[in-house]
Amino acid sequence: MLGQKTGIAVMVSGGGTNLQALIDAEKSGIIKSGEIRLVVSSTPGAYALTRAENSGIRSVVMKDEDQLLEILKSEGIELIVLAGFLKILSPEFIGAYRDRIINIHPSLIPSFCGKGCYGLHVHEKALAYGVKVTGATVHFVNEITDGGRIIAQKAVEVCDGDTPEILQKRVMEQAEWILLPEATEKIAYEIMKGIR
Ligand code: GAR
Repeated sequence: MLGQKTGIAVMVSGGGTNLQALIDAEKSGIIKSGEIRLVVSSTPGAYALTRAENSGIRSVVMKDEDQLLEILKSEGIELIVLAGFLKILSPEFIGAYRDRIINIHPSLIPSFCGKGCYGLHVHEKALAYGVKVTGATVHFVNEITDGGRIIAQKAVEVCDGDTPEILQKRVMEQAEWILLPEATEKIAYEIMKGIR
């Protein structure tokens, strides 16, 4: 509703360090135009669910999209943030939240993205190619995997001797955990003000 904080759902599949960055950003006031009302996990037992519980945020494990859409509507969710959510959403689901779903991807799109390119695989591919700069991208979600309009990007150096794990950690610390909260605030603000 106009003037009220934007209701946010964060969707996750695993450890949830990006979820933690969002929770911390809301606590510190970096995210001030939206509130995280719900965490949705595609995986039962994901550590991200414990993070939600520790912060007193309601969480659900996703059964199917129809059930999820009902929950999202009943919680007044206006913005969905995919934070390490590794399932592909259907065109119907995306259509129900058109321009209201954003995703973080751990590379500079259009490099190292698309179907099957997620998590550690992204960094394996970047190292195999030999790029000297990688980074992270926040983008809107449309029907093309990692193909929606770009909201923000941040570059990160690749160093000699990097392993996929070392590079993943650097991209998270120097890009993802900063970029995702900032982009979430930007879009939440625009929704709150009715300019998106
Ligand atoms: C993050 O690096 C995120 O960018 C990536 O999965 C990781 C999840 O970590 N997402 C993708 O690759 C999506 N294509 P987290 O659970 O600790 O936030």
